[in-house]
Amino acid sequence: MALFRTVSFAESVPAIEGDGVLLRTPQMNDFAAWAQLREQSRDFLTPWEPIWPADDLTRPAFRRRLRRYAEDARSDLAYAFFIFRESDNTLVGGLTLANIRRGVAQTGSLGYWMGAPYARQGYMTRAVRALIPFAFGPLRLHRLEAACIPTNTASIRLLEKCGFVREGLARRYLCINGLWQDHFLYALLSSDPRG
Ligand SMILES: CC(C)(COP(=O)(O)OP(=O)(O)OC[C@H]1O[C@@H](n2cnc3c(N)ncnc32)[C@H](O)[C@@H]1OP(=O)(O)O)[C@@H](O)C(=O)NCCC(=O)NCCS
Repeated sequence: MALFRTVSFAESVPAIEGDGVLLRTPQMNDFAAWAQLREQSRDFLTPWEPIWPADDLTRPAFRRRLRRYAEDARSDLAYAFFIFRESDNTLVGGLTLANIRRGVAQTGSLGYWMGAPYARQGYMTRAVRALIPFAFGPLRLHRLEAACIPTNTASIRLLEKCGFVREGLARRYLCINGLWQDHFLYALLSSDPRG
């Protein structure tokens, strides 16, 4: 199925430049900034994320996280990025293209978080807009999916601004903050107009 094969970014996932943001693969020397930002943003993020393991913000857990990211990229299963503000190289959040399915699907799922001090300043809109050409270009995906809890106004607005279309409601779709929660399903096709 040569038609559906893609370029492997195994060893060097490229950095992606957006409008005032830079997306690049997480590195070990991001640990301090990442742990500090996640701790500072705990109350802001935890209602919308899977439960954080007790050791999540430790250096060994971060090392394991990076190992998993590298394996996933090598297997073309997921590509994880940290988002930096270009003007001063500050880590502001993260964006992952995960659950990549090849074959007849050519689909991946977007996940994202913004550090609380940087929320509502347009950074995630710029990061998602930067990732889309990478997903539909070099990665040759046909479809990007994202799911969010119906009360997550910020996430809904973000997706709709970027051109994602709501396709339905999946019942008790993901276990978020310890509860199986309904999610709106959104998707953007490579042929859709971009927001
Ligand atoms: C969802 C999230 C990533 C958005 O990141 P962000 O950098 O704040 O997003 P942007 O600044 O690009 O804003 C995108 C749109 O959402 C709107 N928005 C952002 N936060 C909002 C809020 N709390 N309430 C209402 N609208 C909000 C913005 O105003 C903007 O719309 P506009 O241009 O029409 O004004 C961020 O709010 C977040 O990390 N939330 C907690 C974790 C989470 O929800 N993860 C995703 C689970 S699906």
